[in-house]
Amino acid sequence: MCGIFGFIGNRNAAPILLEGLRRLEYRGYDSTGIAVHNSTIQTYKRVGKVSELQEILPDVIEGHKGIAHTRWATHGGVTNENAHPHIDTNNRLAIVHNGILDNARGLREKLQSKGVNLISETDSEVLAHMISIGINSGQSPEDAVRHTLNRVTGTWGLCVLFEDHDLLICASNGSPLIIGQGDGENFVSSDPHALTPHTQNIFFLEDGDIATVTIDKIQISRQDGRTSSTGMTILEKEWGESDLGEFPHYMIKEIHEQPEALRRCISGRLDYPNGSAKMSGLRVSPVDLRNAPHVRLIGCGTALNACKIGALAIEELARITALSHVASEFRYNDPVINTKAFHLAVSQSGETADTLSAVKEIKLKGGTVHGIINVVGSTIARKCGQGVYIHSGPEQAVASTKAFTNMVAALLMFAIKIGRTRSFTTERGRVLIDEFNKIPNLMDEYLQNSGPIDEAVGLLKDAKCVLFLGRGLSMPVASEGALKLMEVAYIPCLSYPAGEMKHGPIALLEEGSPVVVIAPNDKHKQKTIASMHECKARGAKIILIHEEGDDEISLEADVSIAIPSCDNLLTPLLTVIPTQLIAYKTALVLGCDVDRPRNLAKSVTVE
Ligand code: AGP
Repeated sequence: MCGIFGFIGNRNAAPILLEGLRRLEYRGYDSTGIAVHNSTIQTYKRVGKVSELQEILPDVIEGHKGIAHTRWATHGGVTNENAHPHIDTNNRLAIVHNGILDNARGLREKLQSKGVNLISETDSEVLAHMISIGINSGQSPEDAVRHTLNRVTGTWGLCVLFEDHDLLICASNGSPLIIGQGDGENFVSSDPHALTPHTQNIFFLEDGDIATVTIDKIQISRQDGRTSSTGMTILEKEWGESDLGEFPHYMIKEIHEQPEALRRCISGRLDYPNGSAKMSGLRVSPVDLRNAPHVRLIGCGTALNACKIGALAIEELARITALSHVASEFRYNDPVINTKAFHLAVSQSGETADTLSAVKEIKLKGGTVHGIINVVGSTIARKCGQGVYIHSGPEQAVASTKAFTNMVAALLMFAIKIGRTRSFTTERGRVLIDEFNKIPNLMDEYLQNSGPIDEAVGLLKDAKCVLFLGRGLSMPVASEGALKLMEVAYIPCLSYPAGEMKHGPIALLEEGSPVVVIAPNDKHKQKTIASMHECKARGAKIILIHEEGDDEISLEADVSIAIPSCDNLLTPLLTVIPTQLIAYKTALVLGCDVDRPRNLAKSVTVE
């Protein structure tokens, strides 16, 4: 989604800005631009990739400060005019903005009635003109931004470059913005990942912060003029960009990184002697865990699928009601929040606006939330103030893979932990922990011999629609498989509980329809076999993901992909991998851009 990068220092800004944009590319975007200050502000922007922007740039752009943006269209189509930076009428200042201004329409009308000529269809452009009006009436840059922001509603990560002032003004409200402190130079970004080559000393602006950034100073205050308490944080080294190494795409690289990522996630957390899990980031006593009336898990997309697995596992192991919630629905359904309940917000990026708004809703109503987050220091992690990092490392492909398995692993560890306070014995816990420890090696084993994925791709690549079926813990795996194939190969996919298929989706089946079935050797298997028969009777071709050695079910399939056998509770950590490979390889065969699927953003920072 939209990304911001800014620089002020003694070096030439343009190459630094372009490199910053390149590091923001993984978030997904449709147009891009930079503005550099020399004696005047020079702005270059265009639809397309950063590499396409580079094509229209002069060989050398002089200037030691500037701002840059990757845009993911919300207000107004994908056009050069709508790309950021936006300038005011006299080109005295340029702005880049992430987020959405709710009252933009009224503000646009007001500006137009004053004779301001708006060039773009965006909400953001109003900021440039409003700040400019403030400057023209004698306000300082900071005051002009402050007064403007007092008159807009919505969300912003904002960075402003001025012709007549040697500084950048930044502001944040509901959309992340981070200032990186260098040595005689400073940086701005919406994503800590883009700052790691330059500095690890960063300031995460809080909602309502305004920062004045010069070459050697970062001054942060509140929008209402009070002092801000925002302090410096040291960014973890692991958030540097990883390169592709031997892999052609990040998606396949990250699929193969899963065993190592999982080792990091479970390292030091699997507590064999107590048959439990150590999760020190969870600030809750065993008594409070035992007495919690229910658990709620909240997320979007892949994180939501992980939540669904977590909810089933928690309910099964801890005998406590556990519910998963679509984050974008949560706040707007005015949920009743029990302050003793346990809430978990799950997110790879830690920046997803829908999940963040659910966290705010819970806190507003007096509840507490723990984060299950990948990106260290991200907005949701900070807002929750407690929780567990999943330690997947940077995930750069838009389609999430290694974050999914680690979210599931973190939630399963939590299920074991809460289960031990409420229901099952140390012995049962030890068996689970023992089995858990084996999973990274089993992942490696599977990835070394992933089975007939190409045959599955042959059945899927021309499909009008693909049905994914599973039961119990395998149902969210089916949903994750469907999401992945849809995201990267643009094939319409439906995921259904296998038993529900006969109540509707069976109407879609015709000769040759591919159906992907996730069926480990668990208590649901016999029923799933019955569902497979119903599909086959209508001419469907079955692509089956099952446990190795389970001939009873594998003989029923057209293509059967075996994962190593493991404890029933842990099967999602393995069964999901063939679905990831299927999605990846199908996308390649269809010529899709696997790492940057159309219309998608890695980090969805608007509601
Ligand atoms: C995953 O493949 C997707 N790109 C998407 O559904 C993602 O999981 C969702 O937007 C939530 O992101 P988050 O985990 O960063 O909150």
